[in-house]
Amino acid sequence: MKKLVIKKGKYMKRDKIACNCENVTYGQIIDAVNSGAKTFEEVSEITGCSTGCGGCREFIEVFVRDLVMFPEDNM
Ligand code: FES
Repeated sequence: MKKLVIKKGKYMKRDKIACNCENVTYGQIIDAVNSGAKTFEEVSEITGCSTGCGGCREFIEVFVRDLVMFPEDNM
């Protein structure tokens, strides 16, 4: 898997779009994790992200993994 460097939480704008097909923002993904989602699949079910073309899936999987591993960075 490619290594992705992501500035999350306080370093990124919550309203920036992470999934263009479903118009899902980084803030929505962060909120899903903060509300208890622990996996990409759970976040996708809550937000609808990555249910279109799938082009964002790898990126959002890494983002969710980092949010779950480092919850102190979540906003
Ligand atoms: S950009 Fe997320 S499914 Fe297409």
